[in-house]
Amino acid sequence: MSAIPPLRLGVNIDHVATIRNARGGDHPEPVRAALVAAAAGADGITAHLREDRRHIRDDDLVRLMDSLTIPLNLEMAATDEMLAIALRHKPHAACIVPEHREERTTEGGLDAAGMHNKLADFVGQLKEANIRVSLFIEPEPRQIEAAIRLGAPVVEFHTGRYAEITGAEREAELRRIADAAALAAKNGIEPHAGHGLTFDNVVAIAAIPQLAELNIGHFLIGEAIFSGLDGSIRQMRALMDDAR
Ligand code: PXP
Repeated sequence: MSAIPPLRLGVNIDHVATIRNARGGDHPEPVRAALVAAAAGADGITAHLREDRRHIRDDDLVRLMDSLTIPLNLEMAATDEMLAIALRHKPHAACIVPEHREERTTEGGLDAAGMHNKLADFVGQLKEANIRVSLFIEPEPRQIEAAIRLGAPVVEFHTGRYAEITGAEREAELRRIADAAALAAKNGIEPHAGHGLTFDNVVAIAAIPQLAELNIGHFLIGEAIFSGLDGSIRQMRALMDDAR
């Protein structure tokens, strides 16, 4: 038996909504996918309500809050509109992400250090509403120090760069993520990670002992075309569990 605590899997269902939205109807239903994910071993559901609603929409959020028996992690930009929505629905957690209208996906982490003044009030209001705040940041000491100053209980490290590179560069990025996880944990912050994780690259990340949660979406939904959503999630879960 391993001494490392278990690693939670948050399944991001945004891209079920992307497929639904391509035709404008209501199939495939993100809430149904969330329920399948929960039955397949997901510990939580993650969804990003973007300013342009290109993934999930406001009514999806309402139905997710009504239907889920596992925690919902709402990814959101640091805007007044999103703050009001989070305070109204009170998801278990809110992960603050940078958002640029033209980007295809979340490119790079939040500049928590540069946005201290804006984020301080934002984080404070979410915490007061008992919403677990997470900051989606690059695995950099400067950003972790900013998260400490902001009193964020959780940080999520952006693994996009790790996922895109190979060889020695990837090894160096893996060390950067491992060092960041250790620094966060030492300072009482729970470290999570996510973005671009796949069956081929998840094991080394899952083996970082301080990490408590991985949030994975695009690959799982894509792989579901070949092996079904239940199958893709169970396989990811097994790889994560074996790595601990
Ligand atoms: N974590 C955060 C904060 C994200 O914004 C996303 C999606 O962009 C993910 C995890 C999941 O990334 P992916 O869909 O590449 O698995």
